[in-house]
Amino acid sequence: MTREIEEKLAKALTAETTELIPFLPYLLQDLWELGSKPRDIIRLIKKHMTISENTTFLDLACGKGAVSINIAKELGVNVYGFDLLPDFITYAKQKAEEWDVGALCHFIVGDVNEKVNTEKGYDCVIFGAVGDVLGEPRETLQKLSQTIKPGGFIIIDATYLPDDGSVGDLKWEYEYLHLGDWLRIFKELGLSLVEELADEEGYDCEYELSVMTRRANELIEKHQEKREMFEGYLQSQRKEMADLEFALLGGTWILRKGETEVG
Ligand SMILES: C[S@@+](CC[C@H](N)C(=O)[O-])C[C@H]1O[C@@H](n2cnc3c(N)ncnc32)[C@H](O)[C@@H]1O
Repeated sequence: MTREIEEKLAKALTAETTELIPFLPYLLQDLWELGSKPRDIIRLIKKHMTISENTTFLDLACGKGAVSINIAKELGVNVYGFDLLPDFITYAKQKAEEWDVGALCHFIVGDVNEKVNTEKGYDCVIFGAVGDVLGEPRETLQKLSQTIKPGGFIIIDATYLPDDGSVGDLKWEYEYLHLGDWLRIFKELGLSLVEELADEEGYDCEYELSVMTRRANELIEKHQEKREMFEGYLQSQRKEMADLEFALLGGTWILRKGETEVG
């Protein structure tokens, strides 16, 4: 793994240092969903896509497979999920068996930066809560678009700054765009915004934070010398959660690729 890929991997999981990577599976062991909300994604798919047994989904940076497995279970379609962390892929495979969708779910360890060049012809690609692993927003959308058929769909988390300039005090270190900038990029790339599904009001991250805190404390017990790093991790989680709650707007977008290539 190159240094850059490692750094982005750490950042995608809200870790400030790559030294934390080996501990992430332990810290996140109590959570299955790691970012996007399977229910919201399924709602958008059912509303906007025509599904047949030949429809295929690509879930890039699929984490522990929560989204893919829910899609396979609910829609009876094949889903291909890739993630860089072998522990997450092992977990996803076990969970797919448990949910009786082992034959429909294809979970493979891999770097999404490579997969966007080799995986083609999908009906829908999902990129949920992965941040800038594929580059800047325009580059990310362009790479995702390569993996789907003309007329295919991209599902991605919508996170942007309010247009009225009321930018709160952003605490975590991503560079966010305004909605207008996103809309311009969609147009340049020949993508249309089909729907934005807003996040449910009052979503509570306390549970996630409490289980991560418990696991971080266990790690601090074992590795006293790394106390600062584990405490820093919890701090970053709180910052990111605060940004999502107070400074940013968002939800989930479903975009459609035009029938002719642009961009
Ligand atoms: C916040 S999690 C989101 C997981 C999943 N998409 C979801 O919404 O539940 C970010 C994921 O990105 C994965 N990741 C980061 N960089 C990656 C890369 N270059 N290739 C594949 N996966 C990567 C991490 O291992 C992690 O599982």
